[in-house]
Amino acid sequence: MLQYRKIVYYVGIYQFLLSINIFQKVVDKNKNVLASPVNAHIGLSMVAYGAAGRTSMQLQEFLHLPVNEDLTHQAFEELHVYLNRLEKVTFKLANKIYIDRRSKVRNEYKQITTKLFYYEPSIIDTRYSELSTRFMNEWAEQDTDHAIRNVINIGEMTPDTRLFLVNTVYFKGKWARRFEKCSTKNRNFNIDWNIQEQVPTMFSADYYVYGELLDLKAEFIELPFENTDLKMIIIIPNEIDGLQSIIENLESFNRTRLFESGSLQDIHVYLPKFRIQSSIDMKKPLEQLGMTEMFQDNANFIGITNEPVRVNKIVQKTFIDVNEDGNEGSNSTPRKKPFSSSSNSKLKLWVFVADRPFLFKIVNDRLGMTLCIGTVVNPTNN
Ligand SMILES: *[C@@H]1O[C@H](CO)[C@@H](O)[C@H](O)[C@H]1NC(C)=O
Repeated sequence: MLQYRKIVYYVGIYQFLLSINIFQKVVDKNKNVLASPVNAHIGLSMVAYGAAGRTSMQLQEFLHLPVNEDLTHQAFEELHVYLNRLEKVTFKLANKIYIDRRSKVRNEYKQITTKLFYYEPSIIDTRYSELSTRFMNEWAEQDTDHAIRNVINIGEMTPDTRLFLVNTVYFKGKWARRFEKCSTKNRNFNIDWNIQEQVPTMFSADYYVYGELLDLKAEFIELPFENTDLKMIIIIPNEIDGLQSIIENLESFNRTRLFESGSLQDIHVYLPKFRIQSSIDMKKPLEQLGMTEMFQDNANFIGITNEPVRVNKIVQKTFIDVNEDGNEGSNSTPRKKPFSSSSNSKLKLWVFVADRPFLFKIVNDRLGMTLCIGTVVNPTNN
């Protein structure tokens, strides 16, 4: 087994900036979004293994895939095993290539995708687009405990479609310290300066890592999951309309900065329940970032098939459900009652209220990797 840091290095995902760039392109200020730049990276790497010529060069450069192939292969293999076997959490990343049966897939390519990415390309017949669409959607549904449906819609596939990349992320984690269901109440959420909505808001009074980022006009809190390698970091702007500025300055909310600014506090946390189902068409964002070759008619995927194919569509479908669920068994940290007044109140009462559009990340500390990034602009919109 490679060291965790090495895995991250060899698969090229250490490129923190690339993740940010991707996220900045897919975020939508009118919608809740959950994206996994890491999984997009893994999916594109799978595509890159079938590319040649200029298409390959552009992908390699964009993904920062190191030249040492053996180690990179090993790293992809181990990353997949590690992420999909995380305990006490359901974190399913999948990447599947669908290819029209008229383009015969090379055996070598089947082998490499099966070995490194655990999914071999699936054959569809785009002349029977409805049937093929249903087939693709059924796979995604089964692979994600029915959380993800309709990865593509009827009508998106035409008889000249040859290659789809479907990228799914499904996350379900339990908090290390659960929110009591009975403390969840409807509270105000400021969608913007003018609109407030009542949304089911969870409450917890406990010890959490919390920090203020005065220069960035934001504060954050870390909510650990039962799996101690994972946590959700929630970043809220000081101003009701401050989310945009957080997104634009995402580089400043990096690991080092958060680590330096956070400390364990006895704090009252108000967090809306939310559930996000995102469907992200990655083609435009990737083109805007300079990834153009693979989508063009003269794309070179000779490693996949002898037929001329280009990538017709890359879609990322993600799902997350954030609610009170936590580890019911563990009461290792003493829980507090809401608003219990601490007797020697020289201490400030720390409160964290996510009552305005905010950003969250799911971070794997062991890998030093952000698995997903999302924004909540209206908690009750799915
Ligand atoms: C992290 O963010 C801080 C500002 O919060 C910035 O000064 C620093 O350069 C950033 N580091 C990286 C590696 O981007």
